[in-house]
Amino acid sequence: MDIKLASQAVLTDMIQWRRDLHQIPELGNELPQTVAYVCHVLEELGIDYDSSYVEGNGIVALIDGQGPKSETSQRVLAMRADMDGLPIQEATGLVFSSLNQNMHACGHDGHTAILLGAAKILQANRHLFSGTIKLIFQPGEEYPGGARPMIEEGALDNPRVTRIVGIHEGQLDPNAPSGTIAYKAGALMASMDRFLIEIVGKGWHGAYPEQAHDPIVAAGQLITALQTIKSRNIKASQAHVISITRVEGGYNQNIIPDCVELEGTVRTFDDELRRFIHQKIDQIAQGISQAMGVTCRVTYDYKYPAVLNDAQVVEESVAALSRQFGPDRLFACQEALMGGEDFAFYLKEVPGAYFFLTNPGMIEGAFHGHHHPKFDVDESYFALGAATFVSLALDYLA
Ligand code: NI
Repeated sequence: MDIKLASQAVLTDMIQWRRDLHQIPELGNELPQTVAYVCHVLEELGIDYDSSYVEGNGIVALIDGQGPKSETSQRVLAMRADMDGLPIQEATGLVFSSLNQNMHACGHDGHTAILLGAAKILQANRHLFSGTIKLIFQPGEEYPGGARPMIEEGALDNPRVTRIVGIHEGQLDPNAPSGTIAYKAGALMASMDRFLIEIVGKGWHGAYPEQAHDPIVAAGQLITALQTIKSRNIKASQAHVISITRVEGGYNQNIIPDCVELEGTVRTFDDELRRFIHQKIDQIAQGISQAMGVTCRVTYDYKYPAVLNDAQVVEESVAALSRQFGPDRLFACQEALMGGEDFAFYLKEVPGAYFFLTNPGMIEGAFHGHHHPKFDVDESYFALGAATFVSLALDYLA
């Protein structure tokens, strides 16, 4: 089979599927219309699936190879797409713009379409490989997380997945040229945690602060003190971010409020560092509580771990893609991103790799970034995306 030709041949289908999905974006772990659409396409392709995951919002489909029995027969390659959109009002002006209040502003419509395109090719060429391909269509990547419930419900079992790959489209590495597959062994994307600190003091008249336990002054101390975790407690060479992104409290000019809330995000590439930062936030909050006569309640949510690509899978994949497309289509990312991605959970279970398909789309002459109301992608590169999945599958299973 000529993978490039086969991928070009399903391009029209993929664009149609993407545009249909683009018009009906849904949020989180509630994707009834999206799941119904994907199931319908899988039925048309004659691919068996189970759509009972995450209460009917996640799909696992299987394509069994019919090639001769060999040492690869026991292998199970999972290929994953996320299907959820964002609560953004689309402003692209595209003819196939969203018909509701949400938007596929991160390209997950394209991920789903590209994986369906690859599935169509692989389903028609089962004689070319042995082993099993498992298609994972998950909800909730943006929030609250769909990978974890998929795994807990057995998406990686029966048959047990031995390798997993996934692709994100758009322009994630700012240096990657259009029409490339970007890769990186090891850390690719950061962990993503959220913290909330409720500072509870005692409110009073603004003219008599001596009677109050002022949570606003305590919040000021806390905001400054939390910066010292990065600057004083952690090696400069260990990449991480601690950002306070919301401060809220108070009423007007003559009332000291009872309570102030701080919320923020922590990004790292290391689980131990996540626990250390959590501990330090707790410690500093308790110290300031004592010193300032307030109570700080810290909530630390461990959301997504870091995306850590398996070095061997990356090496084998890059070799296979390079043979298929030539080295010019590949781009080595020089540094990891501080953004997060719940594909990380699969990589904690099985070796695998996540790649970036670079295909920014122009609206009014410019590319607007991910999660922007004018985000768009270049659909012509869907063929490269599908060809990537097919190449990786045939390299591993044939
Ligand atoms: Ni995304």
